[in-house]
Amino acid sequence: MSLRILGTGSALPEKRVTNEDLTRLVDTSDEWIVTRTGIRERRVQTSESLTELGAKAALAALENAGAEKESVDLVLCTTVRGDAVTPGQACLIEKQLDLHCPAFDINAACAGFVFALHLCAAYLATGAFRRILVISAESMSSLCDWTDRSTCVLFGDGAAAALLEKGDSLVDIQLLCQPDGGELLYAGAPHGNSPFRLGEEKSPFLYMNGQEVYKFAVHASVDGLRALLEKNGVSPDQVDHYLLHQANYRILEAARTRLRQPREKFPLTLDGCGNTSSSSLPILLDSLNRSGKLKKGQLLAMSAFGAGLSAGTALLRWDKED
Ligand code: COA
Repeated sequence: MSLRILGTGSALPEKRVTNEDLTRLVDTSDEWIVTRTGIRERRVQTSESLTELGAKAALAALENAGAEKESVDLVLCTTVRGDAVTPGQACLIEKQLDLHCPAFDINAACAGFVFALHLCAAYLATGAFRRILVISAESMSSLCDWTDRSTCVLFGDGAAAALLEKGDSLVDIQLLCQPDGGELLYAGAPHGNSPFRLGEEKSPFLYMNGQEVYKFAVHASVDGLRALLEKNGVSPDQVDHYLLHQANYRILEAARTRLRQPREKFPLTLDGCGNTSSSSLPILLDSLNRSGKLKKGQLLAMSAFGAGLSAGTALLRWDKED
């Protein structure tokens, strides 16, 4: 598994929206949101574009790595909804960074960052690319229906990035998809104005069957991590940090208690960021990296799940000097 992380960065919109702020939009309460999800506030885009946030996160990752931007020979962006339908978000960020290498998007919903790591490991192993800039940039506020209390309280916007090159850091990585769950978490795409198109257009707003997604999330996180650890002869106690998709505190707690691990091994950004889809994992990774809590040689277990339904788990040995 040919990959190491050279540096990380992240960028959030300026605007903080608290649970209290949401009570002025929908019939909800701080108490309901905190007890059901663990979220206290989220950042939401106002005038910043996703391109600007993604570029800011990318520059922070390059700086953290001590790398020149010209050394990047592939830009990948994980996103469910970029600033434009086309060109891809990766191309828009690349232009902002004034880079001139191949650039394209990956959409594996909230699990996008783990899917990107998988692809990068393969690319780096073949030597097709030497340095890949992975950016996760998500604008969930553009997908949510702000009159639907069951979804709009859960999400936030943000971007994060990681600079990767060939190395021995990635121990193992597993991806899974359960396509019969596609309707459980869904946002439609507009049909446009073709006079030939038949059938009803689905709502462009995010629909979620919360309880079914919850069950999948717990199964994907707990069983996914257990299987990955077992396959690699690693006990849950040997993992130093569990980096899980930040969707709901109860899901994180279900995973933590089933793996019988202490709270400090499960870092959180959920309370301040909400669910930022594929950005959530790299935002968490960056916050851990910058807090100085990641030590060279430590084992990191990652897990993310989302629409598809899809999920990914990864085991990495942190290979960066403090
Ligand atoms: N404020 C107040 N009440 C709300 C509310 C809100 N923001 N959202 C829903 N409710 C109400 C519901 O209308 C329902 O009311 P009713 O009993 O009168 O019908 C009640 O709260 C319970 O709703 P329910 O959907 O059963 O709540 P829940 O305990 O399942 O929690 C989620 C809802 C969404 C927090 C939870 O299902 C969840 O986290 N699922 C996983 C979602 C996820 O991870 N998504 C990300 C995928 S990447």
